[in-house]
Amino acid sequence: MATQGACWAWTPLDGTGPTVRCSDTKPYERADVRLATGDAIRPGGLALTERALDVLDFAAGSRLLDCGCGAGATLAHLADAGFRAVGCDVSAVLAAEAAGRVPGRALRAEAGALPFASGAFEGVFCECVLSALDQPEAGLEEIARVIVPGGYLVVSDLYLRAGEPGSGGTGAGCAAGALPRELAEARLARHGLPSVVFEDHTRHLIDLSCRLVLELGSAREVMAVLTGREPGCAGDGEKPRLGYGLWICRKEA
Ligand SMILES: C[S@@+](CC[C@H](N)C(=O)[O-])C[C@H]1O[C@@H](n2cnc3c(N)ncnc32)[C@H](O)[C@@H]1O
Repeated sequence: MATQGACWAWTPLDGTGPTVRCSDTKPYERADVRLATGDAIRPGGLALTERALDVLDFAAGSRLLDCGCGAGATLAHLADAGFRAVGCDVSAVLAAEAAGRVPGRALRAEAGALPFASGAFEGVFCECVLSALDQPEAGLEEIARVIVPGGYLVVSDLYLRAGEPGSGGTGAGCAAGALPRELAEARLARHGLPSVVFEDHTRHLIDLSCRLVLELGSAREVMAVLTGREPGCAGDGEKPRLGYGLWICRKEA
């Protein structure tokens, strides 16, 4: 059984619960999870970043933000490609790792309070982050603010191929904030970021899930990481229909 994660509300099958178990390690800070993901802590790794760069063809030297940069894989990739890239992440552990990888370009900051001027970036990358935000509306408001009118937001994220909002899981589960595609796009549009491209990349989620099974030892452990429902707890048997998508959104002028 998993011993890491944030807080788990669970009911043991012997009927002694319900109870809550906590540790202070988020799924994306877990060593075993990172063994499966590598430095890019998401399905698809740099392949989807590259796909977005091909579509958008940003000019050399463009100012790009990686919001929720994790360990800095995309940040390093963008900096190496000649962009003026910076990254931020709320996790002190991951922001420090990113800063070690790309010195002077990464800082600890909350998506809902970005320490950048309005219109500071031609593009923002937000890879597997929106569904992890406690306050996605505040995060999207800030992300929209720092993009120059006519600039772009690249989102890759978990989404629900079927089911209601909330059916992706609870608490610290990676998919707790996953939405059906139509609702995810409506939310982006409400923030002045209508999507101009959507591609389904669920096969990358399947690939990563298989690697996670090998590292964590069982599919149930992987579902616990995704849904926040620990094996043996109430709701453990529920199976959200998760997918993974790439959206490119253009900020309205
Ligand atoms: C699944 S990881 C993805 C990290 C990185 N984008 C990548 O793909 O490698 C989710 C990231 O979102 C960050 N995050 C969660 N809530 C955040 C917030 N409120 N503000 C900024 N970053 C946040 C986490 O710390 C974590 O690094």
